[in-house]
Amino acid sequence: MSPESTGPYPDRQVFDLIAQEDQRQAECLTLIASENHCSPAVRAAMGSLLTDKYAEGYPGRRYYGGCEVADQIEDLAISRAKELFGAEHANVQAHSGTQANLGAYLSVMAPGDRLLGMALNAGGHLSHGFSRSHSGILFEPTRYGIDEGTGLIDYDEVERLAKERRPRMVVAGFSSYPRLLDWKRMRAIADEVGAFFLADIAHPAGLIAAGVIDSPVGIADFVTMTTHKTLRGPRGGMILCKEEFAKKLDSSVFPGGQGGPFLHVIAAKAVAFGEALQPGFKVYGQQVLENARVLAEALLGHGFEIVTGGTDNHLVMVDLRPKGLSGKQAEALCLRAGLVVNKNLIPGDPKKAMETSGLRLGTAAPTTRGMGPEGMTEIAGLLDRLITGGESEMAVVGARIRELAAAHPLPQ
Ligand SMILES: Cc1ncc(COP(=O)(O)O)c(C=O)c1O
Repeated sequence: MSPESTGPYPDRQVFDLIAQEDQRQAECLTLIASENHCSPAVRAAMGSLLTDKYAEGYPGRRYYGGCEVADQIEDLAISRAKELFGAEHANVQAHSGTQANLGAYLSVMAPGDRLLGMALNAGGHLSHGFSRSHSGILFEPTRYGIDEGTGLIDYDEVERLAKERRPRMVVAGFSSYPRLLDWKRMRAIADEVGAFFLADIAHPAGLIAAGVIDSPVGIADFVTMTTHKTLRGPRGGMILCKEEFAKKLDSSVFPGGQGGPFLHVIAAKAVAFGEALQPGFKVYGQQVLENARVLAEALLGHGFEIVTGGTDNHLVMVDLRPKGLSGKQAEALCLRAGLVVNKNLIPGDPKKAMETSGLRLGTAAPTTRGMGPEGMTEIAGLLDRLITGGESEMAVVGARIRELAAAHPLPQ
């Protein structure tokens, strides 16, 4: 029986829309760096009746009855998270990456305290001090940029700002930075000024879990992440910390920033962590990295400029200026051909955030669909045909993208 025909109020309208989204995802190729395709097991856990259960509190200390199963689910998610990342303490209740950051901040910061994070136009995130985010409203942010010539973080500049501003928290983490972060250097900078250090691994969490890039766990005081990007779990957040901060952190998440936990999502997180603990996830992580490297090289070969000249993670930042198109125009062209990407600011971008001179590409989702280096090389060629040829290439490129999508189905 299909879900729309069950229950007292059959709802064709919503389920027709969900069917349309199924079709869109199946027929398009997603290269949005913050997206991935989770497994049917993760989706099943999210669609379970755990969504009905209230469980305010933590395992063994709930404000509701009937939490015996809830406790086991949350304990399982916590123990898998700790094993996966080698962490002392895990909070799996954060509803999102933004909530995870709020939880970490509130555990050691008071309103008015200073925060040092990466600027949005340099590749940082809204929750690292943007004026209209809680992080910029509650705290006093200073934001470091990147060297516009190299596209790289200038750690000397971060150190200079830290010494000048003496923040309570130093944040390292990115939404659009294609290189690895020097966790030890950031720790040293934080130590120099007596600050706490938060590593936000929202983007590379899966690569860190797979052990294919360096981890900040054990170096940073707090490690926050989203579970839905390279980690390939449900939409949600998570925070790891040293045992000494465990109690403060848990009470900053609940009741500090949230109410009842999403048990269905916590169950799905446990499933995703279980998947990431399998040997196959390391192979996946290696392939994500290799695919990004190949994609960047192939685009360079087609005359695109690549920010920092390449990539060390799943992200490829394309500078479109040599092609004479804005990010907005390129995004729209790609979308019509079934290639889903997003416009992004590049270092020193003269254009506004809604226009941009760049595109951000990511290889987590196509790698989940089983695409390898050959596929990446072909995608680079198709992207070039679209951006160089525009309308005249639309039909042929669109048809090929549909073929590639059909040959690489979503996880079943
Ligand atoms: C570095 C970083 N931190 C936090 C977040 C916030 O995650 P969410 O959208 O789940 O709030 C993101 C999302 O893209 C991110 O890239």
